[in-house]
Amino acid sequence: MVRILGIETSCDETAIGIVEEGRTIRSNVVASSQQFHQAYGGVVPEIAARVHVEVIWQVLEDALQQAQCRLADVDAIAATQGPGLPGALVIGLAFAKGLALSVDRPLIGIDHLAAHLYAGAMSDPDLAEPFVGLVVSGGHTLLCVVHPDQRFEPLGETKDDAAGEAFDKVAKLLGLGYPGGPVIDRLSEEGNPAAIAFPRHTAKDGYDFSFSGLKTAVYQHVRKQPQPLERPQIADIAASFQEAVVEMLLAKTLRACQRTGCKQLVIGGGVAANRRLRQRLTEAGAERKIRVVCPPIELCADNGAMVAGLAYEQLRRGRVSPLSLSPDANLCLSGV
Ligand code: KG4
Ligand code: ZN
Repeated sequence: MVRILGIETSCDETAIGIVEEGRTIRSNVVASSQQFHQAYGGVVPEIAARVHVEVIWQVLEDALQQAQCRLADVDAIAATQGPGLPGALVIGLAFAKGLALSVDRPLIGIDHLAAHLYAGAMSDPDLAEPFVGLVVSGGHTLLCVVHPDQRFEPLGETKDDAAGEAFDKVAKLLGLGYPGGPVIDRLSEEGNPAAIAFPRHTAKDGYDFSFSGLKTAVYQHVRKQPQPLERPQIADIAASFQEAVVEMLLAKTLRACQRTGCKQLVIGGGVAANRRLRQRLTEAGAERKIRVVCPPIELCADNGAMVAGLAYEQLRRGRVSPLSLSPDANLCLSGV
């Protein structure tokens, strides 16, 4: 039985998970520095890095305790190599190297985006490649086909903001705080998604996304309203904005399934926690006989279990990393 410890520090979550055989999650501890970024309306890289240093030992202790094992009981140490904030990545990777050296275990560098998609395999044992993957997070929005052996065929990506970034910026504009995604998700339940016809960038033939036009449309709409906005108005704007994002993601993702002939779809990343997105994709999948895998919420947001899970696949293939491994802020579905 192979047990791997996975470390994730690419952004504002310090996370460590311990996973057996790539699937069985023994612990998945996440400490977030979100509260320290709230005043700035977005992640401040220096603050994120400093908090990683302060809390990572405690997160490790909690992860080992919850898994009821010692560091010497793990077979490999994995950490996110990239993409992410350079100063944040370096903390997790340096920590992983220290642990690997101290117990003489292999180090495995992991691609964060591939790990988000691996969360799909962890939550659905019947999932088999090839499948269409949609990564929607604060830093990325991309569509790909995942082939066997961690081979990624890119289809499209965002040409401007990531979907999560659009949620965060619109939330800031509406005075809803950071991170914006979960607040807009909740508030949208009170609003009417058809209240405002925000533009959808879906017309083009390909698979690329664009959210900046939508963001500007929300800004212009807000500017024209008498201030201050009342809660029901804000809820209508939030719901209409969310609906536009969801429909844009839906259109390109379903197109990818149709054109590639893939009957399986996995979503991953923080925005994959969005309830409306999960609902609309699940309904569309049922209509089209596509298996839609929406990992549980705790595996959508940044976490260490998905890092440990994917590392199991790498270790099985003998893909371990040298201790000289450097963080790569621009890594993108390399399969490492
Ligand atoms: O994957 P993630 O935890 O970190 C990155 O790798 O970026 O994603 C964070 C992003 C944030 O932009 C956050 O607002 C968004 O995911 N998010 C959501 C929801 N929960 C988190 N967006 C929409 N609906 C949600 N329920
Ligand atoms: Zn992420």
